[in-house]
Amino acid sequence: MSTRVNEREEEQTDAPAPAPYGASVAEAARATRFIDVRGLEKTFSGDGAPIQALRGLDLTVAEGTFLGVMGQSGSGKSTFLAMLGGLTHPSGGSVSVDGIDLYALPGERLADFRREYLGFVFQSFNLVPYLTALENVMLPLAVKRMPGAEKRRRALGVLERVGLSARAGHLPGKLSGGEQERVAIARALVNEPPLILADEPTGALDSETTVEIMDLFATLNREGITIVMVTHNPEIRRYFDRTIVLRDGRLDCELPACAADIPL
Ligand SMILES: Nc1ncnc2c1ncn2[C@@H]1O[C@H](COP(=O)(O)OP(=O)(O)OP(=O)(O)O)[C@@H](O)[C@H]1O
Ligand SMILES: [Mg+2]
Repeated sequence: MSTRVNEREEEQTDAPAPAPYGASVAEAARATRFIDVRGLEKTFSGDGAPIQALRGLDLTVAEGTFLGVMGQSGSGKSTFLAMLGGLTHPSGGSVSVDGIDLYALPGERLADFRREYLGFVFQSFNLVPYLTALENVMLPLAVKRMPGAEKRRRALGVLERVGLSARAGHLPGKLSGGEQERVAIARALVNEPPLILADEPTGALDSETTVEIMDLFATLNREGITIVMVTHNPEIRRYFDRTIVLRDGRLDCELPACAADIPL
């Protein structure tokens, strides 16, 4: 994974190659700080008074973690997720993923990072209504230099992975909510990202379908994908390795320390 995107400059020096033991220690250190957030701040300034959505957030997440993010509406969860994904520049602080300092990257490298590292899944699915399930899943491959047949093969592979190969030719409008969600997950997976960011992915689903979708996320996590998921649903906390709670743009606490009066 460390050879993705950044081809880190510091690794191209004339320094002697580190001993294998040293390399594995560095790799282990990177894995334990797979996501490293330091003093993250975001202030939105519009017509009215500036809004401080994040007020100095620190967090370290190990590779392979299934992290839940909870907190009341307006506490900064979506803003936080967008910043983990390199979508919104912070007003202060830093985010690094797998040792890559996201907001120190030039714009086009940040786009490379998103393409190679991330799968996004949103509550509203964000499927293109006039494209079939298969075509929706192929979208992230549009910019890849790869034969069309290979793109199709990969997209069909992930649709099969989420149990939807029989629906590949259907338009989103002809699919149930859970099926649309699975198409959205397949689309997030098609680039084989090591990190999935999901913002209330079960928010529009009934409880039975929620369990189905969460089981799918849990399987992906067991296969090694790090997942950060925002949710208001206390029922799905049991899937998470760690659950943090945001309040007013700050990390309020982490379960189980704040289990008693968790604000949803
Ligand atoms: N683009 C924006 N411009 C101005 N203010 C914004 C913008 N995005 C978010 N905010 C504000 O920042 C704060 C945090 O918003 P955010 O969407 O991160 O909350 P949230 O925890 O995801 O809430 P919810 O649970 O309702 O989705 C809110 O006060 C919101 O109004
Ligand atoms: Mg939100």
